[in-house]
Amino acid sequence: MRILLTGGAGFIGSHTAVEIVQSGHDVVIFDNFSNSDASVLERLERILGRPVTFEEGDIRDYSRMREVLQKHNIDAVVHFAGLKAVGESVEKPLEYYDNNITGTLTLLRAMRDLGIKRLIFSSSATVYGTPQYLPLDENHPLSVTNPYGRTKLQVEEILSDLCVSDPEWSVVCLRYFNPIGAHESGLIGENPRGIPNNLLPYVARVAAGILPAVQVFGNDYDTPDGTGVRDYIHVVDLAKGHVNAAEYCSCHKGWIAINLGTGVGYSVLDIIHAYEKACGKPVPYKIVARRPGDVASNWANPQRALELLGWKAQYNLQDMCEHSWNFQKNCPVE
Ligand code: NAD
Ligand code: WQD
Repeated sequence: MRILLTGGAGFIGSHTAVEIVQSGHDVVIFDNFSNSDASVLERLERILGRPVTFEEGDIRDYSRMREVLQKHNIDAVVHFAGLKAVGESVEKPLEYYDNNITGTLTLLRAMRDLGIKRLIFSSSATVYGTPQYLPLDENHPLSVTNPYGRTKLQVEEILSDLCVSDPEWSVVCLRYFNPIGAHESGLIGENPRGIPNNLLPYVARVAAGILPAVQVFGNDYDTPDGTGVRDYIHVVDLAKGHVNAAEYCSCHKGWIAINLGTGVGYSVLDIIHAYEKACGKPVPYKIVARRPGDVASNWANPQRALELLGWKAQYNLQDMCEHSWNFQKNCPVE
């Protein structure tokens, strides 16, 4: 298959590019570098030992989108491109709706007009809102509390409507839990701009001495050690799930949502201690107030991914922290 990755220069997209190429498919990376930079392409080429096809562009640009899809004779699209910071989405809802909703609609129009009807969409466990039960399966009620989450849920619904309107479409919405870690080579990983919002890149920068201490957002949750529990998944496992999803799309039609998680929850303190083991030194932390909007616990039921995609996460928490540290050590931080 020839697979276009929108947002393919980003954290999850770059790891997915590696796994797709290594599974024998062709990849075209499409990105506007709004949250990534061109150096990732050179690092991908070092991992893969061959050139990577790249097209610069914005998913909101219909004629560019159409031109690239046509030029490369694309069979399927994995759609990562979008904005992803929950807090920022509250401050800048219009930017989020424009990028994530208008951008997706523009991509879908270009695909439809060229008869390309296979899509894997980067959705999120955020669509489950506050868990009513755990583990979260795909039938859990959906609800969202911020514009970012709303864009994910709305795109899922748009895609479902599209599949009802035209049974030739094949759409898999992958609901990611908490992707962390990095490629084993240490060449690609997560390197957010500015102060990280997410736990792992923050812990990595504290371990590297760039930030003084991790702020642990609350230790009075109803969890074994009082800190928040999440389903952290190695980004390479997540990336492999996309290969299985693309292959699934080529022989199934219609819309489906599938969780990508491990099924195991770890606390903030579990993460800090695993990271200390990985980097061989203490990671200072202090307990601070809860972060508004956080839930106590959240982990996946990954059964559907196993049944439909034959996919199961392989890496453990220690691997995730070791690979993150391996990347962090090599990683120049702004
Ligand atoms: P990322 O920011 O590293 O990657 C997104 C990429 O999309 C970037 O390279 C960015 O430059 C590009 N991009 C953004 N807007 C674009 C546009 N209009 N046109 C072209 N390119 C554009 O983020 P990521 O962590 O790799 O996430 C990828 C996808 O997965 C996103 O849709 C995100 O919402 C979703 N997701 C991420 C997480 C997570 O924790 N990282 C969890 C659940 C879902
Ligand atoms: C994990 C745990 C925090 C930072 C977010 C999005 C979600 C998805 C993944 C895109 C929580 C605690 C964090 C820190 C801390 N993204 N924490 N100190 O909130 O589970 O999910 O990213 O779709 O939509 O909401 O991830 O990494 O921010 O937090 O104590 O400095 O770490 O309270 O318990 P979260 P996270």
